[in-house]
Amino acid sequence: MPATHTEFDREKAQRFAARTGQQLAAAINCNLSYIGDELGLYKAIRELGWTTSDELAGATGLHERWIREWLRHQACNQHLDYDDEKDAFSISPEVSAVFCDEDSPYYFASGFQAFAALRSSVDRLPEAFSTGLGMRFDEHGPGCACGIEKLNNYIPRFELVQSILPQLEGVCERLDSGVTVADVGCGAGIALLNMAKAYPKSTFTGIEISTHAIERARANVETWGLTNVSIRDAREHPLPSDHSFDFITTFDVVHDTPFPDRLIAEIYGALSDDGTWLCSDIRSFPKFADNLAENPSAPLLYGFSVMVCMSSAMSEPGGAGLGTLGFNSEVAQDMTATAGFTRFQKLEYENAINSYYEIRP
Ligand SMILES: C[S@@+](CC[C@H](N)C(=O)[O-])C[C@H]1O[C@@H](n2cnc3c(N)ncnc32)[C@H](O)[C@@H]1O
Repeated sequence: MPATHTEFDREKAQRFAARTGQQLAAAINCNLSYIGDELGLYKAIRELGWTTSDELAGATGLHERWIREWLRHQACNQHLDYDDEKDAFSISPEVSAVFCDEDSPYYFASGFQAFAALRSSVDRLPEAFSTGLGMRFDEHGPGCACGIEKLNNYIPRFELVQSILPQLEGVCERLDSGVTVADVGCGAGIALLNMAKAYPKSTFTGIEISTHAIERARANVETWGLTNVSIRDAREHPLPSDHSFDFITTFDVVHDTPFPDRLIAEIYGALSDDGTWLCSDIRSFPKFADNLAENPSAPLLYGFSVMVCMSSAMSEPGGAGLGTLGFNSEVAQDMTATAGFTRFQKLEYENAINSYYEIRP
């Protein structure tokens, strides 16, 4: 237990005030980096190399005075390098990997998009704190589904088929021979499409409750031109209870849903007796004190939880409200056993944010 606060520590107060200033600067930066991403400024600077505000304004057709102030803000945030003699700015390869290169494992400009999509939801929070009722995904508008699509882009494209599916017992062989697969809470369908492309003999169904996500997923299916994929609205066509799916996946869904026990029971009813559920969810510890001490992503994840995940999980009266860090391996093992699953294994594969579980009847 920390000591009781008796004396006022001026230095500590000063340090905390300075830290609060940095956090305020970071919040403003999210808005201005979002603008830089949205207007294609980072990519334009990468193309131009060292560039002055006049050159960048000319190349993008934007107003020089606004560009100049934005460039200075970005240099002060160490997003851009500055050459005093030429009054020119450039972007390093490392910053470019995070801000410009959508195929890079470090790409994170999508975070600014997700942040922007949630700005207007802040106004709803006081009411939610009072009533207890949160917001469904769709209430954040289409930007939320797009932000999640971009945020969760890398693993489904470069790790799922290549590194994760091979860790599941017998699943790749079955997918090769042709089986039925459902991705529940498929979002924009990126994981679904990457699996469907790799396994053309299998049939893939994306199942969703968000109208905006369904629109994104259907548009992506059309763009990819695959004939072994379809998207289903779970509100009209819920999971069948006839054990007709051989392989079910969920990627960051269970902690978001108001009634995770019902969803897990539905998955149990939809999965064949010899089927597999690949469940990925956020890595976390059961005890808050451990998340506080050990999880460097905890401030971001608890922030997302209040804004999106726990809000969604509380969006119906009586919602369980698990939230972003609420479906860790202990909770997952308990809840899946209650639903009737007898095998539960955490995969060796994990990343900074997610753990992966192989769950079988
Ligand atoms: C954090 S997003 C993840 C989307 C996608 N799986 C991904 O990895 O990008 C969670 C998604 O689960 C969906 N969802 C939540 N509860 C669901 C349910 N009971 N049935 C189907 N989809 C659900 C939400 O609409 C949302 O699109």
